[in-house]
Amino acid sequence: MSSKITIVGAGSVGSTIAYTLAVSGITSEIVMVDINAEKSLGEALDIRQGTPFCSPVSIYAGSYQDAKDSDIVVLTSGVARKPGQTRLDLTQTNVNITKTIIPEIVKYAPNAIYVIVSNPVDILTYQFCKTAGLPEERIIGSGTILDTARLRSRLAEYYNISQQNVHAYVFGEHGDSSFVPWSLGNISNVPIDQYSACLTDQGKIMPEINLDDVENYIRKSGAKIIARKGATFYAVAVSVSHICKSILSGTDTTMTVSSMMHGEYGIEDVCMSMLTIVGRTGIKGKIIAPLTDHEKELMVKSANCLKDVIKQLDI
Ligand code: 2OP
Repeated sequence: MSSKITIVGAGSVGSTIAYTLAVSGITSEIVMVDINAEKSLGEALDIRQGTPFCSPVSIYAGSYQDAKDSDIVVLTSGVARKPGQTRLDLTQTNVNITKTIIPEIVKYAPNAIYVIVSNPVDILTYQFCKTAGLPEERIIGSGTILDTARLRSRLAEYYNISQQNVHAYVFGEHGDSSFVPWSLGNISNVPIDQYSACLTDQGKIMPEINLDDVENYIRKSGAKIIARKGATFYAVAVSVSHICKSILSGTDTTMTVSSMMHGEYGIEDVCMSMLTIVGRTGIKGKIIAPLTDHEKELMVKSANCLKDVIKQLDI
């Protein structure tokens, strides 16, 4: 079935998302929009020239008008995080950029599902929900889907087991107040804190995993990659493609993405990540998984960190 995805922003993140979508055959039409039209044209051509080896896909650079009839719009524009900079430092600059984009894109793609990727993603998702005039279920922030992927790949590496067998999540802000609700984590249904003990001698891993170290590693991962190579884009591109695939396939899929909170864990009026069901119409529902009291406190703390920032912004 044909489908169309528009990507706003042709920087490293937007272009790698376009490339990943093109090679994975998830969609039949990809439009790249950027204020630097030469850049988006160059990126679209570079990707297009590899498409004879892919499933049929049309990819081109365009303007906001070309977003017409998009099923999904992915927003990646904004200033990227620099080495040493926190996501929240970027905030007002990227809020201002998003402010100019929202009316332009919504005018041409009023029926699309919007996937917000630019940072600080939870704040920009909130801004979108508050100002775009679209139903909230059609606004999804990539949130901690990337942190969850980092967590799963780290645990899989540690235990030398397929990532597919690892079920664990990162909740809260995509940023410093994120946390891992370890009580929900398991490997093939065995709780993570019991997994080592359940292995036969051949599988034994020493020393025992330190969950705080893993959590810190995940939280600092983005900054560490940025310090080494200046940006992160591969893992986020695959994560965003996964969101797009779940939307277009119509298979309701659980993932940790950011969306407006309406009383879940006692939290309201902020966008953050928790277990969420994503499907053909966008956010299909949320899973209020049981958390320990401490995990609930961490969720509220993360919400409050985001709210403190929102209060200082001109959205
Ligand atoms: C990341 O965590 C920069 O937010 C981006 O990789």
